Amino acid sequence: MNLICPNCDFLLDVSINPYTCLNCKETYPIINNIPLLFDKKQMIKYRMSKDTPQEYYRNVASIYGKTHHVSLYGARRFLQDFENKLKPYFNTQPNILEIGSGTGFATNIINRHSKSVTITDASLEMLSINKMNHNGINAFCCATEKLPFPNETFDMVIGNNTFYLVPDKHLGAKNIARVLRKGGKLILSEMNPYNPLWPIMFAVKGHYFERSIYEIFPFQMKSYFSSIGMTIEEIDYYSYIPYFATEKLAKIEKPLQFMLGKSKLTRRFSAIRIFYVFKKSS
Ligand SMILES: C[S@@+](CC[C@H](N)C(=O)[O-])C[C@H]1O[C@@H](n2cnc3c(N)ncnc32)[C@H](O)[C@@H]1O
Ligand SMILES: [Zn+2]
Repeated sequence: MNLICPNCDFLLDVSINPYTCLNCKETYPIINNIPLLFDKKQMIKYRMSKDTPQEYYRNVASIYGKTHHVSLYGARRFLQDFENKLKPYFNTQPNILEIGSGTGFATNIINRHSKSVTITDASLEMLSINKMNHNGINAFCCATEKLPFPNETFDMVIGNNTFYLVPDKHLGAKNIARVLRKGGKLILSEMNPYNPLWPIMFAVKGHYFERSIYEIFPFQMKSYFSSIGMTIEEIDYYSYIPYFATEKLAKIEKPLQFMLGKSKLTRRFSAIRIFYVFKKSS
């Protein structure tokens, strides 16, 4: 796979370790079989910053891998809901890039539906667990706002619960659109910012950085993506089951979904996730 230099956008020589830019001669190390592809500014932000969401995702990898695992009832049920939303878009075995893939919670699903999946994440610690569990998968440690791939490399980009964390969403959107082929699709599943339960969850967990879900309301998402030539194909509100729900807690899911899940208006304020599909113009 061709890769471009995060520093100057020229091609990298990937036949040597470390990968080396053929233009500016910057070098990029390979750790745990994963190339680390940050420019200098991002290297500081993503690898060295303190008291930031970036530091959080460097430190929680092993716990995250256990709490977001298909062996748990709520996680398994949520992934069923996610897969049902994705299935209509998987009929052509697309060449997929998964952004912010973390420890592989959603990679399990995506990998089942395509022969070619590439995973990226800004946390080497999260990504290393994902790569270990998905033998042979292409993995690159990089930021969504600076993807190291040439223009129009992928048929589809997918992200589960990650775009809300991208610090510069306009730049993130621009980069995603750049690596998508014409007519290609972006699918994002995020926390539904209309659901009134999220602020309580953030306060209980002390995760105030998660308030950035209030940067991904549909009108904001349209503004990030329409300015770079992507049109919205689907916005929907879905799933009533959090990943941590036990089988006992999940008993309230079915009646909730029965009462509130039928109309899009009631789903908007009660479902926990929001599902976006954008298409790059042909
Ligand atoms: C809530 S976790 C979700 C992980 C995974 N998608 C899942 O479904 O479990 C968010 C992930 O996004 C990654 N992330 C945050 N900001 C990022 C950025 N700007 N570029 C790439 N990855 C990022 C984090 O390192 C973390 O692994
Ligand atoms: Zn370069």
